[in-house]
Amino acid sequence: MEKNIEGISFREYNIGNMIKLIRKKLKEASMGRLKELRKYVDNELNKIEDFDKRNGAIVHLYGVSLAAAMIARKRGLDPDLASMAAMLHDLYAYAAGSYDDHAHKGAELARSILSELKLTDEEETDTICLAIYRHDDKLAEDSAMDEVLKDADVIHHCMHDLSKPIKDKERARFDKLCAEFGM
Ligand SMILES: [Fe+2]
Repeated sequence: MEKNIEGISFREYNIGNMIKLIRKKLKEASMGRLKELRKYVDNELNKIEDFDKRNGAIVHLYGVSLAAAMIARKRGLDPDLASMAAMLHDLYAYAAGSYDDHAHKGAELARSILSELKLTDEEETDTICLAIYRHDDKLAEDSAMDEVLKDADVIHHCMHDLSKPIKDKERARFDKLCAEFGM
């Protein structure tokens, strides 16, 4: 029987197959890193003593994370990276108990967490931190990944409780999302 690695026989070991194998391994590793980041975030959120605040934070971060993965996938972007940005995007506000400048300060916090956890390369860290830095600027249109995070945040704000009125600054973005997703 012919020897093989990961289903690729030695005879088929060319550059193309090596790249496929590396991609597969990277994907496996990236599936684990979201879980690892969530473990860190869960631990931080569990420090919030007030039940309603803690519960609200968990529901929002996981809700935005799911929406971000779906939007990213639909637009051909990396859902894993989008989910990671979402898990971190409001963490500063929850930890500080204030939304003052939370996007900019949140980007700094995200950078320190990501450099501690070593789950992302430099480019990915920059992508996540920039999306967090810009996520509160809902009226501006920024890079593709920035837009995924803003849109995911808006989806959760507008659809988590349909009885709540939609904020003026989120109306146009929400309408655009409804058109994009046929809702
Ligand atoms: Fe948010």
